[in-house]
Amino acid sequence: MNLNIALLAGDGIGPEVIDQAVKVCDAIAKRYNHQIEWNPALTGAAAIDAVGEPYPDSTHTICMAADAVLFGAIGHPRFDNDPSAKIRPEQGLLKMRQKLGLFANVRPTFTFPSLLEKSPLKRERIEGTDLVFIRELTGGIYFGERGRKDNGNTAFDTCTYTREEIIRLAKMGFELAQKRSKKLCCVDKANVLESSRLWRETVQKMEKDYPDVEVSYEFVDAVAMRLVQWPNSYDVLITENLFGDILTDEASVISGSMGLMPSASIGVETSLFEPIHGSFPQATGLDIANPLATVLSAAMMFEMAFDLQEEGSTIRNAVQKSLDDGVVTEDLADGGKAYKTSQVGDYLAKLISENTI
Ligand code: IPM
Ligand code: MN
Repeated sequence: MNLNIALLAGDGIGPEVIDQAVKVCDAIAKRYNHQIEWNPALTGAAAIDAVGEPYPDSTHTICMAADAVLFGAIGHPRFDNDPSAKIRPEQGLLKMRQKLGLFANVRPTFTFPSLLEKSPLKRERIEGTDLVFIRELTGGIYFGERGRKDNGNTAFDTCTYTREEIIRLAKMGFELAQKRSKKLCCVDKANVLESSRLWRETVQKMEKDYPDVEVSYEFVDAVAMRLVQWPNSYDVLITENLFGDILTDEASVISGSMGLMPSASIGVETSLFEPIHGSFPQATGLDIANPLATVLSAAMMFEMAFDLQEEGSTIRNAVQKSLDDGVVTEDLADGGKAYKTSQVGDYLAKLISENTI
């Protein structure tokens, strides 16, 4: 298969972790006889420095032409500490989501048996956790009407959803639940918010088309609590943009390391795959960042964008073996030998090329 992949390394540790994912994908391409065309493009602070904006048109053109986008991370502390900055790397992310129509952010949370002790939560609470959030990504309060009134002394942001936006997101949730344990949780705040009532009403109407899926409706505050008490009672969860932003950060704690969690943003024009962690500026250039979340995002890319399931599971097997063999970066080394980012990438690529996994 010919695969045209846009490569957006971004800022901080982005380029380092992306390099490892490229090694892994190239090894997969060789083993399974695919041809990958990598098309690098600028984004984030790196793009602001080069051309003055975080998601330039040239990058958008490359993404639109690609079969998938592999993304590192964006963000730079120089913008965080300057509230008056007019242009910020994060604006690039939002613009990219909107222009590529990336409406569904799929964030799995799972545990690796060998890493259970890494989680701040007790082993018996998290053992067996394997859930997936599908967060709506191009609507809600992130993109609603906003502004200031009263000479700047009153501010407002609005949360708006259309029935169509809810249907296309919920459809993904129902379909994913059908492939998994057939449990779907719709997370909302329907006891207070009108937009949540539309979510609930819409999802309830869809239930009859998926009679095999058992749907529960839970308020976001209760989910925030149950997520850390009984995470393994959840399977697929669907929710609006801001609730999803908050809950998926919370869920990432369950696994014990943010450095392991991948994500996919499914879109109208194309789909994008990225680790859930940020640009980790303190570690930039040190070759210490954990590349596994990006590598696992590449596995999701093979599975979801190209429907190449075996390629995806070979990557997952390589990741599992590197964890079992202790070939891990310092965040997971636990007093043992800490390997460099690049060494972990080399090890994974070698495992894949040797056909032993
Ligand atoms: C995320 C991030 C972004 C968001 C920020 C950087 C705009 O937190 O991808 O979850 O809030 O969506
Ligand atoms: Mn977030």
